[in-house]
Amino acid sequence: MKNKYYELNISCPNLKGGVSFYPPKELNALLNAVGKLKIKKPVFVKMPIEKSDDEVRGMLDVIVKHKWITGVIFGNLQKDRKDPSFVQDEILTAGVGNFSGKPTFRRSNELIKLAYSGYGKKLIIIGCGGVFTAEDAYRKIRLGASLIQMITGMIFEGPQRITQINRELVELLSQDGYSNISEAVGVDS
Ligand SMILES: Cc1cc2nc3c(=O)[nH]c(=O)nc-3n(C[C@H](O)[C@H](O)[C@H](O)COP(=O)(O)O)c2cc1C
Repeated sequence: MKNKYYELNISCPNLKGGVSFYPPKELNALLNAVGKLKIKKPVFVKMPIEKSDDEVRGMLDVIVKHKWITGVIFGNLQKDRKDPSFVQDEILTAGVGNFSGKPTFRRSNELIKLAYSGYGKKLIIIGCGGVFTAEDAYRKIRLGASLIQMITGMIFEGPQRITQINRELVELLSQDGYSNISEAVGVDS
């Protein structure tokens, strides 16, 4: 299958060596350079979730100035081991690396809401992080996500979970009186 969009991953956990595209100046320089490529397909920026609200706003302010960018993905792995989703005794025993699945759910949701409230007219939001069920996906949609990605959920539950989520989403939407996902996007933000 041909790719439908490109993901510009500025939050890759494998990025080492002091390079950071988070400061607005560096991000702007990166987007200026990528913009020159005149990419034809939609481009979504994959965002971090361990940054503060203000830092994320600073990044979104830069992103919306580059009008060729279609949207953002919230978000990448949980790198903040102080996040309340962790059992603190347990996290002390964890080795090197970052966290996917449930530890990403709460903060990615907060940032979907932040992005939708402030930038929802300019950016399409892809919700990603801790989606295992239709309820999880619906939560992100109601906060502002127009599309959903799931990685860990599919690893644990298998690929059939996607069909199951799609079917159950139809029920959740109809329970709330919606006939289309687009009607539910952002209603809680
Ligand atoms: C096995 C695995 C490999 C991943 N590899 C990358 C990667 O190379 N670059 C990246 O930015 N994110 C990577 N991620 C993060 C995911 O793209 C996603 O943002 C994160 O896991 C939250 O979604 P999830 O809870 O549905 O897994 C990876 C996640 C998993 C579970």
